[in-house]
Amino acid sequence: MRELTATVLENKEIAKGIYSLTFASEEMPAVRAGQFVMVEIDGFPLRRPIAVCKAEGERLTVCYRLKGEGTRRLSSRYSRGEKISVLLPLGNGFFVAEEEKKVAIVGGGVGIFPLISVIRAYAESKEIYAYMGFRDRAAVCMQYEMQRAKELVIATDDGSAGYRGTAVQAFMEDFGRVQPDVVLACGPLPMLRALKNAMAGRNVPVYVSLEERMGCGVGACLVCVCDLTGGGHARVCKDGPVFEIGEVEL
Ligand SMILES: Cc1cc2nc3c(=O)[nH]c(=O)nc-3n(C[C@H](O)[C@H](O)[C@H](O)COP(=O)(O)OP(=O)(O)OC[C@H]3O[C@@H](n4cnc5c(N)ncnc54)[C@H](O)[C@@H]3O)c2cc1C
Ligand code: FES
Repeated sequence: MRELTATVLENKEIAKGIYSLTFASEEMPAVRAGQFVMVEIDGFPLRRPIAVCKAEGERLTVCYRLKGEGTRRLSSRYSRGEKISVLLPLGNGFFVAEEEKKVAIVGGGVGIFPLISVIRAYAESKEIYAYMGFRDRAAVCMQYEMQRAKELVIATDDGSAGYRGTAVQAFMEDFGRVQPDVVLACGPLPMLRALKNAMAGRNVPVYVSLEERMGCGVGACLVCVCDLTGGGHARVCKDGPVFEIGEVEL
């Protein structure tokens, strides 16, 4: 993990309320799929955690939804040429074993962004079946990245684009045909709970990336602690954010 001052190359709205921020540094370290960065935002004492979406040599892209004051400031304050301080790479990331050939990815809301890093990392060596859920057509973005998957299903809550329903529902309809070796997921807690219930007893490993509130992002403050099903706790920033689905209380 290191702290870098990077140069902003682009910070633009790519769908309603969703921004793509690309920054670059000659000292950019290697980043694995599913890792995240802590971004410093001028005027805010706490950095904000954002998943890595694309890592391309010296360039790194994260995508974020406008949520509160921090992300609003991030969208308005940082334009091309500005300096931005980031801590990276953080967290364990997604890992796909050699023998796992068919990889299903299930994402909802801003949870689709770390899964794009999975598609980029594994599209050449694995069969990726992607189920990506959005609120409605206006929220759909990054389709050109998702289309690298072997199969892609876009799901919207209102049916305004693609499958009508959730990404979990779309995935479970295909489950018998696809027979994935492993499932990787990221999204809101109700989505992860629905996935946990639907996958119970199916004997396929499922890994989820959690998006807890964070303070430091490096394991020191314990703001991000979650409960483990076997008792005890884990720090989402340092021990995760990716966990086996049965390991954590959702
Ligand atoms: C590992 C990880 C990866 C994430 N990846 C993405 C991503 O790729 N795209 C994206 O849009 N969002 C992502 N988030 C959520 C993002 O961090 C929050 O939306 C953001 O911090 C909100 O900041 P704010 O100041 O706009 O909102 P406010 O609600 O004003 O934030 C107040 C405080 O709460 C924290 N906070 C609020 N919501 C969250 C949340 N869901 N997760 C963590 N901290 C939160 C903020 O960091 C801040 O300290 C990720 C979170 C984590 C933990
Ligand atoms: S955010 Fe500080 S320990 Fe995880």
